[in-house]
Amino acid sequence: MLDIAEIDRQHRELVNMFNRLNDAVKNHESRNDIYRLIDEVISYTRLHFATEEQLMVQSGFPEIESHKRMHEELIKDTLHLKDKLDYVGEDMFSDWFNHWPFGRVLAHIQYGDKQIEDHINRNDSGFSRGVVPDTLQTA
Ligand SMILES: [Fe+2]
Ligand SMILES: [Fe+2]
Repeated sequence: MLDIAEIDRQHRELVNMFNRLNDAVKNHESRNDIYRLIDEVISYTRLHFATEEQLMVQSGFPEIESHKRMHEELIKDTLHLKDKLDYVGEDMFSDWFNHWPFGRVLAHIQYGDKQIEDHINRNDSGFSRGVVPDTLQTA
């Protein structure tokens, strides 16, 4: 069963991957290695958003459509990473990356995803944390 702990775990992994990519660019690692990291960021971001959208459905999150639109925008950012790197070079990419796509993802986790968590905590009947529902508990 999906739960907030899994989403938190994925957020940590996502942030690690973004950091790894950032470091690779700053350290002027080979373009092939950087492309590989970008591909990993793209596929992990997709996986994470799909997981989160499943949790939104499962928990009846009311803002699901607008949240999905935010995800689409963020995916677009990741799809432009290679072109951007080729266009501006490593040094400018690094500055831009921190402020724009990475910053947007962090803000999304902090503010957008927080609303899903709050919704689940408000409406939690126990399923999302694997807690036994009240009605099944013995005194
Ligand atoms: Fe998320
Ligand atoms: Fe999200």
